[in-house]
Amino acid sequence: MQRERIVNLRSEAQVGKEFWVMGWVRTFRNDQFIALNDGSCLGNLQLVIDRDSTPDSIKKRLTTGAAIRARGMLEASQGKGQSTELRVSELDILGDANPETFPIQMKRHTMEFLREKAHLRFRTSTFGAVFRVRHALNFAVHRFFTEQGFFQMHTPIITGSDAEGAGEMFQVTTLDLNDVPKNAEGHVDFAEDFFGKTANLTVSGQLEAELGAMALGQVYTFGPTFRAENSNTSRHLAEFWMIEPEVAFADLASNMRLAEDCLKFILRDALATCDEDLEFLENREIESEKQLPQDQRHDQPLRARLQAVVDAPFQHVTYTEAIDLLRQSKPFKKKKFKYPVEWGIDLQSEHERWLVEKHFGGPVIITDYPAQIKAFYMRQNDDGKTVAAMDVLVPGIGEIIGGSQREERLDRLQAKCAEFNIPEDHVWWYLDTRRFGSAIHSGFGMGFERLVMYVTGMTNIRDVIPFPRTPQNAEF
Ligand code: 4AD
Ligand code: MG
Repeated sequence: MQRERIVNLRSEAQVGKEFWVMGWVRTFRNDQFIALNDGSCLGNLQLVIDRDSTPDSIKKRLTTGAAIRARGMLEASQGKGQSTELRVSELDILGDANPETFPIQMKRHTMEFLREKAHLRFRTSTFGAVFRVRHALNFAVHRFFTEQGFFQMHTPIITGSDAEGAGEMFQVTTLDLNDVPKNAEGHVDFAEDFFGKTANLTVSGQLEAELGAMALGQVYTFGPTFRAENSNTSRHLAEFWMIEPEVAFADLASNMRLAEDCLKFILRDALATCDEDLEFLENREIESEKQLPQDQRHDQPLRARLQAVVDAPFQHVTYTEAIDLLRQSKPFKKKKFKYPVEWGIDLQSEHERWLVEKHFGGPVIITDYPAQIKAFYMRQNDDGKTVAAMDVLVPGIGEIIGGSQREERLDRLQAKCAEFNIPEDHVWWYLDTRRFGSAIHSGFGMGFERLVMYVTGMTNIRDVIPFPRTPQNAEF
């Protein structure tokens, strides 16, 4: 007995054949109609059982969430809302779901409630849609880079380096924390630790990807990254996935083109392959925005917004120009911004949102940031004050991509290491690529969950990764 997935049973071409289906009951109504979902697509298959011959003992177990299997003939549906239905001749309950205790019922649950039930929230239409879209986006990323001639590189998860220099790392150790070995100075003796030195979970695969790019030409890494930043926002996770391409002989302008092409390819692919799920998410967004005042609602539905991004060139602005725009803005003049705006500050999310949502009204790439607010590896510009950095901002999310041209000149990089207190013997291998056959190169990092948020319209990053890790929360 081979089961057929519901996604394959919704076209009339299959009518007149017999199939086995397996899935979970969404609803059972009129003693006769089962809406069955097997996760293969958003839509349910309607099963029609015989009201009279099906024993009550079975019917009363057809509750929301129960797993069943059924055999039957596929027929063109008479009812509204589906083109086919299965006329059931054999039915078994595989696993009951007691309606008294099964938490996922056919009503609107809040996202907060479902986060506490993250092990079961896949059973809802919303999370089914989000995770199917997430899969499609993942696949589109690999397709884009493969088609562009990139090689995927698996950079290490455990590393000794702090690529971003932000010190937000989770330490990895096998030392007994109740009885740590001490050295002569009374400090923890990491020589006795597993790796013979301190190690941590990576915050970025970039530094290692650069090493690969300086031989393979263009590589990308796409893996989990970890940041112990104590920020409880709707856009930050302690464990998130990042796509990081790195390209030899590429300057900042070509890096910006790659970022734009990449994002557009992925959006186009999602629009083409995920229409049913995106339509559902679009309607869900419209429904949930009804409670918001008009000026906080999107002025375009989800798919039209994504299509508009695909169709228009991204705008470019330097950091210095962005600061000028912000200082001329209404919220600045009316003192509506919480944080100060002056050259040298790190842009806050309120500033990014004004630029991208109010001023530019679409994706914008901000370049040439002050050196002191960016990482040590970014290439110094001739003005001596700024670096060849680029952040891609999109409406609703803010920063979705951060990247730069890399400092390829050994002496400049060594000076940066000194300035940022990075001991050269920690990054000797990184400096070596500048000693041997150095060349200009560039790359960026795209936060995968921010991408999933952007495409699905979900407003909290915790709802686009199966099991979010955030401060004080590592359940499941
Ligand atoms: O701007 P970031 O910190 O850049 C880097 O890590 C570089 N090494 C990338 C590179 O050039 N190869 O992070 C890149 C992106 C951000 O734009 C954001 O989308 C995402 O990663 N990101 C996070 N996503 C979720 N939770 C967090 N805590 C994130 N921090 C960054
Ligand atoms: Mg950044």
